[in-house]
Amino acid sequence: MRRRGRCRIVREACPDALAKTSSGPSKAVQKCPIDGRPGIIAPMTQDELKALVGQAAIAYVQPGSIVGVGTGSTVNHFIEALARMPVRVAGAVSSSVQSTARLHAHGIPVLEANEVTGLGVYVDGADEIDPRGCMIKGGGAALTREKIVADLAGKFICIADESKRVPVLGGFPLPVEVIAMSIAQIMRRFAAMGGQPSVRANVLTDNGHPLIDVRGLSITDPDALEREINQWPGVVSVGIFARHRAHVCLLGTASGVQTLTYER
Ligand code: 5RP
Repeated sequence: MRRRGRCRIVREACPDALAKTSSGPSKAVQKCPIDGRPGIIAPMTQDELKALVGQAAIAYVQPGSIVGVGTGSTVNHFIEALARMPVRVAGAVSSSVQSTARLHAHGIPVLEANEVTGLGVYVDGADEIDPRGCMIKGGGAALTREKIVADLAGKFICIADESKRVPVLGGFPLPVEVIAMSIAQIMRRFAAMGGQPSVRANVLTDNGHPLIDVRGLSITDPDALEREINQWPGVVSVGIFARHRAHVCLLGTASGVQTLTYER
């Protein structure tokens, strides 16, 4: 299978080969809009879009630098792209045990956040991203460490497939990492603002804390809501990334990678 920009040729076929297929040339056989060769053209899958943006993020990474690395299936593609760099990074600061293991598996040194004074870029995915670059994160339970590493970085490069782009945050349940003894009070606070909170079953974060997921919020002012929730006793961190919103989003779309940049 070969990828050609916005589509993938699932099965290459010359006209003779197509004529010999039992069902004959199917309607799905088309000319590739990019190179004109015949084949079965299929739209890219969500995972292929994630791979596309994972690779595209390499353009923001200085060879020999220390890079901030997020967590999730999109970032896994970024880690693979890091491993393919002809001149590699000197190391990474990782936002989760999972990403650390993947970086180590590729022989990329992982530094503690406390060992660096700053990072050029932090590359991470998102569960949702709004028109200002504010995000919901934490679907993979790594929100606290993600915010810590993002805070060290000069630039947050968000990598996401187009399903993550939304006009208003809140369709994805908002993750909140909490100290266990505060769960009931924090859930009451969310219920009072119209949300439906639930404790994420069978999950503790890398820091050993439970997570609350809040459905039914329409987050029209992410900055204000992030500030408010951060003040509640027992909140370790909230998965609204407004203060640490993206500088750039590389969005995987049917027509290729779109680069969105956000005013500060
Ligand atoms: C993990 C995260 C991820 O960035 C977010 O869940 C997106 O994940 P994926 O790339 O698998 O869609 O915030 O805590």
